[in-house]
Amino acid sequence: MIIPVNLGSRSYRIIVESGALDTVGARLAELRVGSRTALVSDAAILRLYGKAVGRSLESAGFTVTTVEVPAGEAAKTLAVAERCWDALLAAGLDRTSTVLALGGGAVGDVAGFVAATYMRGVNIVQLPTTVLAMVDASSGGKTAINHPTAKNLIGAFHQPRLVLCDPTTTRTLSQREFSSGLAEIVKHGIVLDAAYFAEVERDAAALCARDLPVVERIIGGSCRLKAGIVERDERESELRHVLNYGHTIGHALEAVTGYARFAHGEAVALGIVAEARLARRLGIGSDETVARQERLLASVGLPVRAPAIDADEVLAAITRDKKARDGRVPFVLAPRIGAFQLAYDVSPDLIRAALRELGP
Ligand code: GLY
Repeated sequence: MIIPVNLGSRSYRIIVESGALDTVGARLAELRVGSRTALVSDAAILRLYGKAVGRSLESAGFTVTTVEVPAGEAAKTLAVAERCWDALLAAGLDRTSTVLALGGGAVGDVAGFVAATYMRGVNIVQLPTTVLAMVDASSGGKTAINHPTAKNLIGAFHQPRLVLCDPTTTRTLSQREFSSGLAEIVKHGIVLDAAYFAEVERDAAALCARDLPVVERIIGGSCRLKAGIVERDERESELRHVLNYGHTIGHALEAVTGYARFAHGEAVALGIVAEARLARRLGIGSDETVARQERLLASVGLPVRAPAIDADEVLAAITRDKKARDGRVPFVLAPRIGAFQLAYDVSPDLIRAALRELGP
């Protein structure tokens, strides 16, 4: 599946295709970029896919400098970015060169940030290998490193030149990592497309069994939905907030549990449950709308209850959300499956009550 992202001079394509990683050299050559590339990835991913990607690039005439970064969030620091800049300089990358991010969302974020800032911006190609990175982090141009006080605080919008999703890479994910990515897929269905949501409901068992054609079709559908939003609000002035459904509470749950208790998608799933219940408390949506969201999350292996959550702590973390404008935190709410509305100034008492519903 080929999904165009139409952003004028920053347009690009998202390609979702089994075996796509083997085609990266030929695809990059089509973009007529310079011959030098840097492949940024972590050790485990390099062991799995580094050779194939390197071979594909070299056989298309590119030189490849491999830059190994730590796995996960540990990659998203200024020190790691600096090491990457040093490696790019040492390899002679110039403004026509390309950085390729091979791996999950964290590698994509730091490599994207390095590409956005090196020589005021060089090409970045995203090669996501997790469900989460394929359907969310790799497209849309958000790049970031973490600040000691908060995640993703330092960054830039820098659109990729190409996103290549190879669904065969999802076979090597742990069950937890695979399910975590499905939270973003369910999110897209809830707020953007009732037919897509129903498709995920129908195919949940095959999706969880990692039936490749189903995984490819569902990932492609999700990428298409996200691309449609990015095209209309690239810089998140308002509409793009919709992609944060479940994240206002989800991010706060991650923060208060020290980023250790929940995988990102698990926190988003719990955030969706609480935000669905918040909508209900605000008189938006029906009990059945809430129940369908919870049922689908549970059926793809995601948590829908979290014992021992301190609602006041979560509430305090929500007010520190970086999406706040003048102290007002936007909530995305789903009045029905396939629709959304934004709400500001939601009463803390209602948020607290919705959070308590996460309890057993
Ligand atoms: N991950 C949400 C966005 O790209 O806007």
